[in-house]
Amino acid sequence: MKKIAVVTGASSGLGREFVRQIAKETALDEIWVIARRRDRLLALEQEVTVPLRILALDLTDPQALDAYSAELRAARPSVELLVHAAGFGKMGDYRAIALEDATRMIDLNCKAAVSITERTLWRMHRGSRILEICSTAAFQPLPALNVYAATKSFLYHYTRALRVELRGRCIGVTAVCPYWIKDTEFIENARRHAGSDAVRHFRFASTEREVVAQALADSRQNRAVSTPGAVCSMDRIAAKILPSSLLMEAWNWMRTK
Ligand SMILES: NC(=O)c1ccc[n+]([C@@H]2O[C@H](COP(=O)([O-])OP(=O)(O)OC[C@H]3O[C@@H](n4cnc5c(N)ncnc54)[C@H](OP(=O)(O)O)[C@@H]3O)[C@@H](O)[C@H]2O)c1
Repeated sequence: MKKIAVVTGASSGLGREFVRQIAKETALDEIWVIARRRDRLLALEQEVTVPLRILALDLTDPQALDAYSAELRAARPSVELLVHAAGFGKMGDYRAIALEDATRMIDLNCKAAVSITERTLWRMHRGSRILEICSTAAFQPLPALNVYAATKSFLYHYTRALRVELRGRCIGVTAVCPYWIKDTEFIENARRHAGSDAVRHFRFASTEREVVAQALADSRQNRAVSTPGAVCSMDRIAAKILPSSLLMEAWNWMRTK
């Protein structure tokens, strides 16, 4: 039986970097890479030594999810690692974000995450690991990132409880909750069409390489939550102690000053 990893969002940013680092560290027969941009996935194939199975799929399309399941049924691999990194955000208030974008965030960040995970679980076994890429935004509500933060809160809570549900099968589940990352496409896409003052600063942003290395290390140690960096670690603690209303005021001040 082939040993594989499945990585969504593999055409850029964190997902692509996960593929690079997993290919270096883990003995696998294949890595299945999922995103819409086939050309990017083909380019990634030239970079890594592990064979890639290219699945150019739009994860908000139910037929694409069925195609993924069919691929799994045909190949019957052993999935050692699942990383769900596909996701996007939009900045701005309720007037700035098109309803279509708001609902697409829910479709990708929530529905597709659950769907990919649950469609993969039957091919996972004792020692397999799941990393769901959430965000520091999961820890409190965030004006000007409202729907995005709510989707990440959903994914964070889903991931935490799934970990407990999978304890009996000895499958590790980690919620990865980074703060801003400066070298992925996320910020540029999130700011497009938003007023320039929606979020004016991205101070203390980390890099995709640091975030992925820390997330993989935390997953190997079977940590429930990975906060790769000082800001996300501090925010996680602050959100446990301080009321959301205070954190939202602090965020409103920080993002506009
Ligand atoms: N960057 C940050 O500051 C930051 C901070 C905290 C959390 N995160 C989270 O980290 C994750 C990865 O983001 P990133 O920073 O690496 O951003 P990114 O560079 O924009 O990567 C997003 C990935 O998602 C894929 N994707 C988007 N829509 C898709 C769809 N409908 N179907 C399939 N794949 C789709 C994109 O590929 P295609 O366009 O080719 O489909 C791309 O590979 C996201 O969940 C994001 O919320 C990011």
